[in-house]
Amino acid sequence: KTAKMIIDKSFKISEIDSRIYGSFIEHLGRAVYGGIYEPGHPSADNNGFRQDVMELVKQLQVPIVRYPGGNMVSAYNWEDGVGPKEKRPKKLELAWNSIETNEVGTNEFFEWAKQVNSEVMMAVNLGTRGIDAARNLLEYCNLPGGTYWSDLRKQHGYKDPHNIKVWCLGNEMDGPWQIGHKTAYEYGRLAAETAKAMKIVDPRIELVSCGSSNTAMPTFPEWEATSLDQTYDYVDYVSLHTYYGNRDNDTTNFLAKSLDMDDFIKTVIATCDYIKAKKRSKKKLHLSFDEWNVWFHSNNQDKQIEPWSVAPPLLEDVYNFEDALLVGSLLNSLINHSDRVKIACLAQLVNVIAPIMTETGGASWKQTIFYPYYYTSVYGRGTAIQAIVDSPKYDSKDFTDVPYLDQSIVYNEEKEELVIFAVNRSLDNPLHVDVDIRSFEGYSIEEHIVLANDDPKAINTLQHEAVKPVASKESYMENGKLVLVLPKMSWNVIRLR
Ligand code: AHR
Repeated sequence: KTAKMIIDKSFKISEIDSRIYGSFIEHLGRAVYGGIYEPGHPSADNNGFRQDVMELVKQLQVPIVRYPGGNMVSAYNWEDGVGPKEKRPKKLELAWNSIETNEVGTNEFFEWAKQVNSEVMMAVNLGTRGIDAARNLLEYCNLPGGTYWSDLRKQHGYKDPHNIKVWCLGNEMDGPWQIGHKTAYEYGRLAAETAKAMKIVDPRIELVSCGSSNTAMPTFPEWEATSLDQTYDYVDYVSLHTYYGNRDNDTTNFLAKSLDMDDFIKTVIATCDYIKAKKRSKKKLHLSFDEWNVWFHSNNQDKQIEPWSVAPPLLEDVYNFEDALLVGSLLNSLINHSDRVKIACLAQLVNVIAPIMTETGGASWKQTIFYPYYYTSVYGRGTAIQAIVDSPKYDSKDFTDVPYLDQSIVYNEEKEELVIFAVNRSLDNPLHVDVDIRSFEGYSIEEHIVLANDDPKAINTLQHEAVKPVASKESYMENGKLVLVLPKMSWNVIRLR
């Protein structure tokens, strides 16, 4: 099969906000306890943080990490997680039926994030709490001192403010599963008033209004319209969440699911712009896709887990090769919408639906999805370019006209580097792509890395890495044109200079 593509540096989508390569750590399962934090582990530092895990996180160059939830935040009292550790209460964690020891809280997580060179994106509880708890937490984190909450932070050993910039106004408040679930209007009112107070406390912050938990929610997209009608003037972003799965074992359909992400983004942009018009506003709202991933493998096993234990092994999806291909395409979708999507978080980062896994007391290892995330985060910095593509297509159960070629293009002007991220969705055939790189005269292939496997269900384990990137020499330049050779079922990154 053959596809054609034109890449021209003047076809700019946007400068990419590097925060689209963000991730997420929730107090859920073994993400914190036994994941990033395990005092007594051979690699733990003085604060109990596993340095082997830190090293893997640093490799991923994660610019921002959302914390502390997720569903967990909707019944969380942040005050339980600060101050002397021996005085912190053990509490029932209602979202995941677990016990929360509160050994790790706001300050410890901030320290951890600093060490892995990430910013913190903090969520406040708008389920069981509201304006007061949110403004106090902000004062505790961001004010230099001289007030009750900022002085308390100092007493707790943190002289300098954390200066956390991005704050989420609750989590998935449209979901009936959420503690303190609200109607769109109830949420909009509370979020707007909370936002107003928070921006008085610290006008430098950016705020995220809760959007829908996924497109299948019966309230989507009315939720966005009604809640943004209240919050629009106070917030900077609206959130999107989505998780995909291959429950019917239909790989061609599964690999097309990034088209659903495209549609989701377009609908939310349209809704934001409708509210903008309704309000005669000059402000353009941006999108924070602050939870996205594949999540379904662990659903049944999670039903067997006994409630009320500390750090049970929840949501430990073991990802396969086809999951890595979809993750690659979802990253392409985020890049291709980088004019409006300014933050995105792969949910999550360690052990819980994560690219990084740990053995408690043992080693850490990379899941299949680690690789597209790693390469896209490292090389996907710069300007997103709109490619003109002519690809053969297929129809699947839920989608029509699915291009076999899925791509995003990034031009890094500083490094004078052109980067092509490409997925060949065909299960049977390699794809040849004739690329006209017109405005990149003199550029040639620096590196072509491929993630390919004959078995869509191949997985990585601690002992054996079945899915790992290899260098390819198949693609070539011919008379100034680029010819890409993409193996069947493959994710590729091609760097030209
Ligand atoms: O990431 C796992 C869960 O998925 C989060 O807690 C919640 O926000 C979403 O439903």
